[in-house]
Amino acid sequence: MSYENILVEQRGAVTLITLNRPQALNALNSLVLEDLIDAFAKFEADASQGCAVLTGAGEKAFAAGADIKEMFEKPAAEFFAQDFFSRWTSHLVKTTRKPWIAAVNGFALGGGCELAMMADIIIASENAKFGQPEIKLGVGPGMGGSQRLTRAIGKSKAMEMCLTGRMMGAEEAERSGLVSRVVPLANLVDEAVKLAAEIAAMPPLAVIANKEAVNAAYEMTLEQGLIMERRIFQVLTATEDKVEGMGAFIEKRPGVWKGK
Ligand code: HXC
Repeated sequence: MSYENILVEQRGAVTLITLNRPQALNALNSLVLEDLIDAFAKFEADASQGCAVLTGAGEKAFAAGADIKEMFEKPAAEFFAQDFFSRWTSHLVKTTRKPWIAAVNGFALGGGCELAMMADIIIASENAKFGQPEIKLGVGPGMGGSQRLTRAIGKSKAMEMCLTGRMMGAEEAERSGLVSRVVPLANLVDEAVKLAAEIAAMPPLAVIANKEAVNAAYEMTLEQGLIMERRIFQVLTATEDKVEGMGAFIEKRPGVWKGK
């Protein structure tokens, strides 16, 4: 399937999706969203695919934000009527149960930073720059920046970034817990695909369940989250992959997963 604004390829069990508007620093307009919704739905439905990687075309940007030229013309009533930006979270976060990794190459600003934070894991290139510069446009984050960034790096840094629009480099982003690792730009996609392949080789039901368990930490009290974690563990003990995984350990051989 070919798209106008993104590239999609399969590398074994990994779906690699590339935002492809480098002339606009991969700014996120409505057409990009429609392409991404379709590509993520296909990834989710394809049993041969276990993990996805999202990156940006070119060396300069993952995504420099929501498309300012598109938003400039749009009347407020339309933003409200369309509940603008809500479909990003509903399709890329809520209905995507399989994990995906953001491989951030260069600028991840505004909606670009927020899109990266929708991923389950963020890997950054050394030239990556994260920021929520919406305040300079007279607005504020609209796709989760004030919420996910604050949970990721804490109030003081998130507040500073949202109030000044200051960008955070890759090293600071790793130190602050926003990204899990920083790699040279030339290796970024390969490293992300390698990590995604490692995840895709795990027992598929356990992958989905582990993702749900970690995400519950964002939504629940500790007590509720611990109950949910135990229930997930107990449900997984009913799978054939649990019998295979524990049996393979005892027999000192690699497990062969059925996704059952
Ligand atoms: C539309 C964009 C864009 C964007 C860059 N471009 N960012 N177009 N929307 N968000 C376009 C530029 O207009 C230009 O095209 C081309 O990409 C190259 O950008 P330059 O500015 O010439 O590059 P450079 O000088 O290197 O500066 C890079 C930059 C700057 C620092 C990343 O482009 C920038 O500040 N971009 C905007 C970042 C931003 O404010 N993002 C948040 C958006 S709001 P042309 O054809 O003009 O040469 C958002 C959330 C909205 O994301 C929530 C509100 C409710």
